[in-house]
Parts: sequence; structure tokens; C-alpha cells
Amino acid sequence: MYRLIGNQFKRPAGLLGRIISRIMIKGNRYEYDKLIPELDIRPKHRLLEIGYGHGMGVERISSKYDCFVDGIDFSELMYKEATKRNRNHIKNKKVELFHGDFMDAKINPDQYDRVYCLNVIYFWDNLDLPFSKIKTVLKDHGLLCMFMAHKDFIAKMKFTLDGIFNKYAIDEVVSLLKLAGFEDISYNLENNGYIIKCRKKS
Ligand SMILES: C[S@@+](CC[C@H](N)C(=O)[O-])C[C@H]1O[C@@H](n2cnc3c(N)ncnc32)[C@H](O)[C@@H]1O
Repeated sequence: MYRLIGNQFKRPAGLLGRIISRIMIKGNRYEYDKLIPELDIRPKHRLLEIGYGHGMGVERISSKYDCFVDGIDFSELMYKEATKRNRNHIKNKKVELFHGDFMDAKINPDQYDRVYCLNVIYFWDNLDLPFSKIKTVLKDHGLLCMFMAHKDFIAKMKFTLDGIFNKYAIDEVVSLLKLAGFEDISYNLENNGYIIKCRKKS
């Protein structure tokens, strides 16, 4: 049962996926509120959210800022939910949502001013490849912002105990960001996790 729930956080699907999505909307509002101002969004910026889930973050950003937001998520259910939630912004060409795995997606290099993701890093078994891909799609000096729950916090939840969630320590993430070619790396401990911010080296 716990494995089933853990898998639903990784890739929500079906009825249980809908329930998990509702939980994430309520549970992750605070994290989006903390992360979005860190993105320092300027007029006409182009952003990418990896693992947009229900699409609440995409909606909040595109409602508030004069910018363009793309998103990619490999859950078909989340693609449908987020598309519905953002239908007006999609119609107005402020938002474009894709259904697919970020790791396999063909994305033009150097096209995003900002890349962000919340609660996604745990599902990458190895961070070198995603960090290097994020670096490729960011413009020079572009910002990457991520939210990651503290490893001790996620370890308390039974559904994270069976290998679906990688529990990364903040020091490990910072070292791997440096190796991937990011600089100005900083992080704040907020509530139960970290907002991590860094810049692509030119
Ligand atoms: C735990 S949910 C987080 C959703 C939302 N960001 C939030 O914090 O409420 C993780 C999301 O990332 C998506 N995801 C995980 N790995 C992905 C990948 N490699 N490519 C695209 N989407 C991915 C899942 O489908 C899911 O919607």
C-alpha cells in the first residue's frame, strides 16, 4: 500500500492520483509562495517548470507576471489537470504545457531565463544528468530554483521508505550543482525543506 502511494507522488494516475493531487495542492502552496519570489521574474522572461503536477505554480506565475511559462510533466493525469487549470493562459499563449519525461525531452538549448521544480528531485536516481540538462536549457546566467524537503522530514513518511524517493542531503545537492556548472549557490531552510537557488555559469 505504501509503495502504491509513493508511486502516486512520483507519477500520479487514476483515482488515487487525483486524491494525491488534491493533497499536493493544499500541502505545497506554502512552498510555491516561498519559491516564486526567488525566481526574480522580469518582463518577457521565459520559464520552465519541471514536474508541474496540478499546475498551480504555473497558474500563479502566469497570472501575476508578464512572462511565458512552459512546463513538462510525465503524468498524463497531471497534464490534463494542469491544462484545464491553465486553459486561459494557454489560449493567450502565455503558457505551454508538455506531457513527457524531462530527461528524454528534446528541448532547445539556451532558451530559458528561469527553470524551477518543486518536489521532483527525489525521483531522479542520479542528479548529474538532470542538472546538466537543466544547465543546457538555461540561458547564460539563468537561474535555477528548486524546493526539496529535508531528508529527515521525508524519511518520517512511510510511503517514502521503499526506494521510490531518493533522500538527498543539501550538501550533496550543492556539490553536484557546482560540478554541473552552477555558481552563486544559496539555500534557505523553509518549514520542512530547502529553497535552493543558483545561477548558470557563462
Ligand atoms: C511530487 S509531484 C510534485 C508536483 C508539484 N511540483 C508540487 O510540488 O505540488 C512530482 C511531479 O513531478 C512529475 N515528474 C517526476 N519526474 C519527472 C520527470 N522526469 N519528467 C517530468 N515530470 C516528472 C510527476 O509526474 C509529478 O507530477
